[in-house]
Amino acid sequence: MRTMINMNEIQQAVAILRSGGLVAFPTETVYGLGADANNAEAVAKVFAAKGRPHDHPLIVHIASVAHLSDWAAEVPETALKLAKAFWPGPLTMVFRKKAQVLSCVTGGQETVAIRVPAHEMASALLQAFGGGLVAPSANQFTHVSPTSAAAVNEELAGKVDLVLEGGECRVGVESTIVDMTSDVPVVLRPGMITVDQIQQVLGQPVLRLQPKSDIRVPGQHIVHYAPRTKTVVMASHVLHQMQGNVAFMVLSDFVSTNKVVKMSSSPDEYARELYRVLRELDKLGFEKIVVEAVPSGIAWDAIRDRLKKASGEA
Ligand code: TXA
Ligand code: MG
Repeated sequence: MRTMINMNEIQQAVAILRSGGLVAFPTETVYGLGADANNAEAVAKVFAAKGRPHDHPLIVHIASVAHLSDWAAEVPETALKLAKAFWPGPLTMVFRKKAQVLSCVTGGQETVAIRVPAHEMASALLQAFGGGLVAPSANQFTHVSPTSAAAVNEELAGKVDLVLEGGECRVGVESTIVDMTSDVPVVLRPGMITVDQIQQVLGQPVLRLQPKSDIRVPGQHIVHYAPRTKTVVMASHVLHQMQGNVAFMVLSDFVSTNKVVKMSSSPDEYARELYRVLRELDKLGFEKIVVEAVPSGIAWDAIRDRLKKASGEA
């Protein structure tokens, strides 16, 4: 489905951003809470609206790879290869930052995370704006990320100057983040662009962040992306042991008199539905959301990661 881009609305959004306001906009992963990455006051409003701790760095979104040198001090050849393969798209890369990049954006670190989103409304906005936009997921800190404009309104009503309507997000979980500052790239956050795909483009192995690293990626130390309803991930053969006021999110043909949501066995479709389903179940007042464990293959890495975070295990 193609979204109709209303250029008047884009111009209105640009005017808000230029005057230091907040605009939530769709990306192909999740909706972002956008602000001018060169305006410290605007960036401060993002942290305030989300209730996000200040040492959690933000991703700078740019219109195309041509803008990369405005933010990154060094761009290795490997990064250009990944950019060529995956941008615009659900990949974020971390670089050494240029001196002028605001430290409120990078959480005081010497590195900056950059992404070129693929959603056509995000592209239109970034092109019209011209500069970089910080855009964390447009949810309250620790809540489930929004994959529709309606979900953004639930999270941030009254705290954002404009919410651009761009339909349901096509990917559904946040971008893959790869640290490009060392010789061997490190995947800091799994996403729907997999480790396999990255290794294939680079023709070299990459590392995956081990838990307990001191690199600051939310979710490593705190409950993140979590519904308010207690959420547990369980193996298929013990699902039937769960009883009472619980809802099930399953892959198998599990039968129960309780509420059961059957998810797709395609990881791409599962990812697209994941946050919407968690958000809907969260509203229904269950005591628990019981999620059937997903397969162990690399294609499911991002989903397994978000389910772990939803259940407070990561
Ligand atoms: O798909 C996405 O990436 C979405 C859409 C809106 O673009 N954005 C998103 O932003 O997920 P946020 O703020 O919810 O997550 C940003 C992640 C955090 O985990 C943060 O720690 C990490 O990026 N990050 C940002 N700058 C970093 C840096 N310099 N080094 C390491 N991690 C960084
Ligand atoms: Mg987030």
